[in-house]
Amino acid sequence: MNEKHGFARAHTNIALLKYWGKINSDLILPANDSISLTLDKFYTDTEVTFSDEYTSNLFYLNHQLIDVKKMQRINRVLEAVKSEFGYQGFAKIESENHVPTAAGLASSASGMAALAGAAVSALGSHTDLTNLSRLARLGSGSASRSVFGGIVHWHRGYDHQSSFAEQIVSEDQIDLNMVTIVIDRRQKKVKSTLGMQHTASTSPFYPAWVEATNQAIPEMISAVQNNDFTKIGELAEHSAAMMHATTLSSKPAFTYFAPETIQAIKLVEQLRESGIECYYTIDAGPNVKVLCQSKNITRVKRFFASYFDQDQLVVAKPGSGIKFTKN
Ligand code: PMV
Repeated sequence: MNEKHGFARAHTNIALLKYWGKINSDLILPANDSISLTLDKFYTDTEVTFSDEYTSNLFYLNHQLIDVKKMQRINRVLEAVKSEFGYQGFAKIESENHVPTAAGLASSASGMAALAGAAVSALGSHTDLTNLSRLARLGSGSASRSVFGGIVHWHRGYDHQSSFAEQIVSEDQIDLNMVTIVIDRRQKKVKSTLGMQHTASTSPFYPAWVEATNQAIPEMISAVQNNDFTKIGELAEHSAAMMHATTLSSKPAFTYFAPETIQAIKLVEQLRESGIECYYTIDAGPNVKVLCQSKNITRVKRFFASYFDQDQLVVAKPGSGIKFTKN
């Protein structure tokens, strides 16, 4: 039996300037560039075993075999890796998510990045991280950014080759932390793929969203390079508000916000006005993520603990890029 093994660990990320909408859904080419923060603590470990003896791909998530119908994106990443290395067998994938559903964070970014990393390291060399980000992108757009640590820029590009992520600064060069307020632990009702497709095709605000985001990219890059927390926070908050304005202006309109989402936004504004600098960002769900500097983590947590339960508050710091060993 001829077996090839590979392992990778990739961390989740949270977008500061969001990706929202594709120009090509097969290749997952986004309409706009995006910039994210990779998080510590939350990651996916994935082991891929290729073998001539397997007759189909098998995927185990947290030790449970997953239905083939849910493997479309996984198969797409595997196919791309196999064709790059000229391999023809099938794979067994064993993934463990260390992204607690309780944290209200998506695991598709870390999951697809770890899958691409493990598959590439099983079949060949994993040293070309730029290429790895292209392969991860085929599983989930945000996964392209999870290949790198710290603050990461995904260039939208115009084809497979030109759409990839790169690091702006590493995790130890940036003081940016995130306190998540978990408002709803359930899976979102409108998945991001559907939500972005609907807004891109029906919201009259959508072209303005794309333009404004692409314009904010160089501003965010220089804010990050200067470790300018105020500028980073202002740009991130505005990006989230604009993204959610596209859902409210789509036809039919919808929103990811729950009543508590608005409550948390107001509390962030109140805390900021009281002199503790913090900003919010929100993804395709009701949970609110509060950005703050290290010196304020405890104060931010304490403030929100008087409105939400302790177990609704999850702190994350900047995390590292993909790794090919467990330690
Ligand atoms: O990569 P996806 O399909 O999970 O989409 C991510 C969309 C947002 O989380 C809302 C924004 C982003 O840039 O991560």
